[in-house]
Amino acid sequence: MTISLLKNVSAVKTSTFLRNSTIALLTLSSVFTITAHGSDNEINVYSARKEALILPLLEKFTKQTGIEVNLVTGKADALLQRLRAEGKRSPADVFITVDAGRLYRAKAAGVLQPISDSSLDTKVPAHLKDKDDYWYALSQRARVIFYALDRVKPAELSSYEDLTAAKWKNRICIRSSNNIYNQSLVASMIEVNGVEKTQDWLNNLINSFARPPVGGDRDQLKAAAAGQCDLAIANTYYFGHMINSNKTDEREAAAKLGLFWPNQGDGARGAHVNVSGIGVTKSSSNKEAAIQLIHFLLSDESQTWYAEVNNEYPVVEGIAFPKALKKYGTFKADSLNLTVLGENNRQAVEMMDKAGWK
Ligand SMILES: [Fe+2]
Repeated sequence: MTISLLKNVSAVKTSTFLRNSTIALLTLSSVFTITAHGSDNEINVYSARKEALILPLLEKFTKQTGIEVNLVTGKADALLQRLRAEGKRSPADVFITVDAGRLYRAKAAGVLQPISDSSLDTKVPAHLKDKDDYWYALSQRARVIFYALDRVKPAELSSYEDLTAAKWKNRICIRSSNNIYNQSLVASMIEVNGVEKTQDWLNNLINSFARPPVGGDRDQLKAAAAGQCDLAIANTYYFGHMINSNKTDEREAAAKLGLFWPNQGDGARGAHVNVSGIGVTKSSSNKEAAIQLIHFLLSDESQTWYAEVNNEYPVVEGIAFPKALKKYGTFKADSLNLTVLGENNRQAVEMMDKAGWK
């Protein structure tokens, strides 16, 4: 196996293959031709999460169980495409990705299989897993409103719906409609408010944009801090990262922003949440070990790790919230079943398009 060969493998970060000894290295042949495992004591993980956000946990898993893990990381859509192309011959045992919309796509693509395990069902709340047990959430994030502390008072804010009010005209930074986080937010609104109201909301929301959508969530936060807009919509963990960043400019930007939990009043549905999640592949030849990994990632230790390292919220009850976000308190989260985000995705995309959200 050489580096140059691996570089030809699309959607695979070569660095993953060049790691230390705890994680067994995938050989090129095992990626492409192996249809069954040589050993029950080994599983193959396809992960759309960055290596730094999964490898340390996999190393702990191997240490604890003796089960070797081969890790392939890549972009979410490319990895799913690869799973589809490999079909029954895929060496993957589990697929890890972010956003319920993508987990839904994996289920719909037929690359996952249901897991019947009642102890997982007690650990993960029903709305944070697939209704037919094809995937389970591992961590949560909220997509909320951030405001410039010197220009906006939290009392001016209330809900996602209110972001179309005239007072917010040309004042909001939000990334493009291509982004699945935004698509899932809109999918949740379709479910709660209906198609017509959501289309109206979208048509008006674009008047609140301070600029044509550009960049990722972190860029929206930085733009609000820099005065290019007064509100930014972003996932909570990006804000947590900026608060703890080793880059001075990011810490300074975060210090200029407040976090507002939308839709919190009596009878309100709560802040929009989404998840990272995991499913066992249909092709898995070591389902037992794959399920063991899911249990490990839902253990108190792993759930605490997600909070501490990536500023995500645990899915298992009783685990502490991320320290960086502690001062923003607890919040009411939308308890909409996340399967809905996948079901409404196509319609959400069409409606965002129709409204002219670039
Ligand atoms: Fe993200």
